[in-house]
Amino acid sequence: MSEVLVLNGPNLGRLGSREPDVYGAATFDDLATLCRDAGRRLGLHAEVRQTDDEAELVGWLHEAADGRLPVVLNPAAFTHYSYALRDAIAQRTAPLIEVHISNPAAREEFRHNSVVAGVATGTIAGFGSFSYVLALQAVAELLAEGKD
Ligand code: DQA
Repeated sequence: MSEVLVLNGPNLGRLGSREPDVYGAATFDDLATLCRDAGRRLGLHAEVRQTDDEAELVGWLHEAADGRLPVVLNPAAFTHYSYALRDAIAQRTAPLIEVHISNPAAREEFRHNSVVAGVATGTIAGFGSFSYVLALQAVAELLAEGKD
């Protein structure tokens, strides 16, 4: 089984209680289970992590780059302003799919810009937790095609 890192940024550990009208009722543990199950069906071993710490997230992206590991990344609020994250993603050596639970383009103005989208393989947003399943499908396809 190919390994994929499913990395999540700040406040996503609070899914379930955090703005359920925007992010739904599923908890972070529910999301992690969904990703592991979907990954297994696709022949991927999904390792799911979450941090509120920008430095830790940058470190995980370095780990992925060094290990040639594909990544599904929800950068959360870092999406909109973290050039450190963008620079870490630019070093990627395998596909990296940016995901969002909500559709940032349909929300407040400050969410309309992603500083990381330009260095990601692609972006999936607005499908709730299912955004992650779609991203894992994309990773599986890209790996099968031998693309990075
Ligand atoms: C989010 C969207 C971001 O704008 C927000 O800061 C988040 C979650 C999403 O998954 O919809 O924390 O990345």
